[in-house]
Amino acid sequence: MDFKSHIDPLNIPKHVAIIMDGNGRWAKKQGEDRIFGHYEGVNSVREIVEACGEIGVRFLTLYAFSTENWNRPKEEVDALMELLVSTIAMETPNLNKKGVKLRVIGDIESLPTSCQAELQESIAATAANTTVTLILALSYSSKWEITNAVKQIAQQVVNNKLTVKDIQAKHIEAYLSTNEWPDPELMIRTSGEHRISNFLLWQLAYAEFYFTDILWPEFRKQDFFRAVLSYQKRERRFGLTSSQISPNSHS
Ligand code: FPP
Repeated sequence: MDFKSHIDPLNIPKHVAIIMDGNGRWAKKQGEDRIFGHYEGVNSVREIVEACGEIGVRFLTLYAFSTENWNRPKEEVDALMELLVSTIAMETPNLNKKGVKLRVIGDIESLPTSCQAELQESIAATAANTTVTLILALSYSSKWEITNAVKQIAQQVVNNKLTVKDIQAKHIEAYLSTNEWPDPELMIRTSGEHRISNFLLWQLAYAEFYFTDILWPEFRKQDFFRAVLSYQKRERRFGLTSSQISPNSHS
């Protein structure tokens, strides 16, 4: 089925977040080292960024490396960092061609300096692009991010800039690394795992979740369009009743 042609262009999620999972298992199935799966995963990244441009998704956040991933075997961590540096260097002209702006969230200072430098270069080189904003979550965890926000708000209170009784959700949001973008309406996780693994815990409060058994290196445009179609069939109630959302419904 051609899923793309069934997508309603008036109901495209502005922001999609993806947990790209299953690279290691995919590689093992091919009798290869886990890192081979990460290399193949880059092709899926390229496809999905393109797919976003094709249907008008404005923001795409990819969970590329979590705080917890630092605990993986050193060879795998080193190989992933090298892959990031080489991919970003190689793909920047392509990002520019497609109008993609690169941004990152996470504890960037914990990344190797070569990786930080490459990221900064690509962020600067793509800053004027407007089609899709590709946000890489690198050395990211939501608990890390929320803890940082709480620390900064506490400092505001200590400095008499804010009182405890005035603290609202908007203050926390202002200190999250995603504060300039809308929250994702759709979160996709590949590989059959049904968890959010410390990813955008605050920002996904009202997101629709889509889980697929497909392993990330095999995830293609068609699979992405299918996820968007599934999103479009959901009724997003934000805590209201069905009849409040659409007055003609009977529930
Ligand atoms: C999860 O699969 C995947 C990762 C931890 C890394 C994802 C990184 C890439 C796809 C490369 C990204 C490159 C760019 C430029 C964004 P896993 O290793 O946890 O797989 P498993 O669950 O089967 O072990």
